[in-house]
Amino acid sequence: MKIIAVAGTPGTGKTALAKLLAKKLNANLISINILARKIPGTMDKKRKTKVIDIRLLQKAAASRLKKGLNIIEGHPSHLLRADIVIVLRTDPVVLKKRLKKHGWDAAKIRENVEAEMLDVVTIEALEKHRKGIIEVDTTGKTVSQVSKPVMATIERLLKSSHKTNIKFKQAGVNWSGKYTMKIAMVDEL
Ligand SMILES: Nc1ncnc2c1ncn2[C@@H]1O[C@H](COP(=O)(O)OP(=O)(O)OP(=O)(O)O)[C@@H](O)[C@H]1O
Ligand SMILES: [Mg+2]
Repeated sequence: MKIIAVAGTPGTGKTALAKLLAKKLNANLISINILARKIPGTMDKKRKTKVIDIRLLQKAAASRLKKGLNIIEGHPSHLLRADIVIVLRTDPVVLKKRLKKHGWDAAKIRENVEAEMLDVVTIEALEKHRKGIIEVDTTGKTVSQVSKPVMATIERLLKSSHKTNIKFKQAGVNWSGKYTMKIAMVDEL
């Protein structure tokens, strides 16, 4: 039994990629957004998000695992048990446009664009897993293009019988060079 986590800041394309991967690889797809509806939590009114105990989420995800390949997608899949964590990245300017289409308010958009700029999901994934993490830049790519390097990594994992040996691989994803000093000006991006 293997577990692939598809993680990333909201809007980076987790659900779209995970659906395609599950279809191509005939994997069991577990969506955190769907699981979260059934788990008790408290509402963060300011952020308009439900706060859930990670242990309850881990329990709920574990109860849905099947033999073979499992894909857990959604936020915060990078904090759950997994053999590989795929962290999707998107240029903050592009991400901001996508989040605007979600109809989110300015504060929520700002918080998420800042999180993307500061590599928050990657850093949290490294704290939890230390290895088996890859980043894929989705900017300007179709979901199918994004799936190619990801499929190659998963295929390598499936061939090995033990936990993957992939150390953290940064696919050149680092927005700080491109957007230095703009953190305070996310609204102007
Ligand atoms: N590679 C891509 N290129 C362009 N647009 C994309 C890509 N992947 C996803 N999108 C678009 O971006 C939006 C967000 O995609 P998706 O819902 O898969 O993201 P998500 O990471 O699952 O977001 P959330 O965390 O809110 O669930 C959708 O409108 C989708 O069509
Ligand atoms: Mg999603």
